[in-house]
Amino acid sequence: MSTGSYLPEKILTNKTLESMVDTTDEWIFSRTGIRERHIADSDEFTSDLATAAAKKAIENAGIDIAKIDLIVVATTTPDKIFPSVATIVQRKLGISSNCPAFDVQAVCSGFVYALSTADNFIKAGASKCALVIGADKISSITDYTDRGNCILWGDGAGAVILQQSDEVGIISTHLHANGNYEEMLHVPRAGHGHDTIAMEGNAVFKMAVNTLDQIVDETLEANGLQKTDIDWLVPHQANIRILQATAKKLNMSMDKVVTTVEYHGNTSAASIPLALDVAVQDGRIKRGEIILMEAFGGGFTWGSALIKY
Ligand code: UT7
Repeated sequence: MSTGSYLPEKILTNKTLESMVDTTDEWIFSRTGIRERHIADSDEFTSDLATAAAKKAIENAGIDIAKIDLIVVATTTPDKIFPSVATIVQRKLGISSNCPAFDVQAVCSGFVYALSTADNFIKAGASKCALVIGADKISSITDYTDRGNCILWGDGAGAVILQQSDEVGIISTHLHANGNYEEMLHVPRAGHGHDTIAMEGNAVFKMAVNTLDQIVDETLEANGLQKTDIDWLVPHQANIRILQATAKKLNMSMDKVVTTVEYHGNTSAASIPLALDVAVQDGRIKRGEIILMEAFGGGFTWGSALIKY
C-alpha cells in the first residue's frame, strides 16, 4: 500500500470563524480539538482534490499509471450528481478505459467502505492494482450560519494504491449500517435552495463513541488479537474527544493515535487516508506495522479496516 494526500491552500482559522458565527476559538478548540481547516476555492472541485492526492500516491508507489485497473472514490460531495468523481479522476489522470471507476457514498465512513470494496475486488481476482481515494469538499454543503457544525468541517483528499500481493496487506474489514438514524445527520434536499448539513451533534457524538467501542472489539475478536497488537490507530478525525475515547478503549496512549483533526478539521471521507499519509510521510508508520482504521458517519454507517502496512 502506498499513500498520497492533498489539502487546498486556503486555511480557515477559528479566529476567522469568530467573525462569521457566534463562537470562540476557545470553545471550538476545547470541544473539538480543531484550530484550523483547509477550504477549497469555488472553482476547485472534489475531483481536483482527489486527482492531486492520487498523483502523489501513484508517485509514491512508483508504478506505471497503466497498471491501475480499478478506481474507487469515497465522497459525499461529487462535482456533479453524475458522472461519478471516479470517472472524472480517470479522465484527469489519463487512465485507460479498461478500468472500472465508481464512487462509494458512506459519508464519513466512506474511505473504509471504499477500501473494503477494492480489497474484495482484489481478493476475488477482479483487480490487481486499485486506486482508492477519499475526497470531500464538505465546505460546499456547509451552512456557515450554523455554529453547531460549521466549525467542524474541512476539505481535502487522501489516496492509496492497493496492489495484489502474497504478503498480507488488508487483514480484515468490517462494515455496518443502520438507516434508522437517517435524520440525525443528513443533507436534506432543499428544492431550489442550497443543500446543507443538518446534524444533531451531541446525539451523533454519543452514538459514535459507543459504536466505535463495539467495532474495535469486533475487529480484534475476528482476528484473535489483543489490544496491544495494534501499533497505530488511524481513526476518522471527527472530534478529538471521540478519538480520545477510542484510544482509551484500546488502552492506547494518544502517541499511538494519528491525529490531524487540529489542522485538518473533519474532512469526512478524506480524513483517514489524509492521516495515514501524514504519518507515513513523517516516518511514524513503518512497513510491517499493524494499523487499525475506524470511522462512523451519516446513515448511520460505520466500519473498520485492520491492515499490515
Ligand atoms: O464525522 C461524522 C460524525 N460527526 C461527528 O462525529 C460529530 C459529533 N459531534 C460533535 O463533534 C459535537 O457534538 C459538536 C462539536 C458538534 C458539538 O459539541 P457538544 O459538546 O456536543 O455541544 P452541544 O451541541 O451539546 O452544545 C453545547 C452548548 C450549547 O449551548 P447551551 O444550550 O448549553 O447554552 C450550544 O448552543 O454549546 C453551544 N454551541 C456553541 N457555542 C459556541 C454549539 N456550537 C457552538 C459554537 N460555539 N460553535
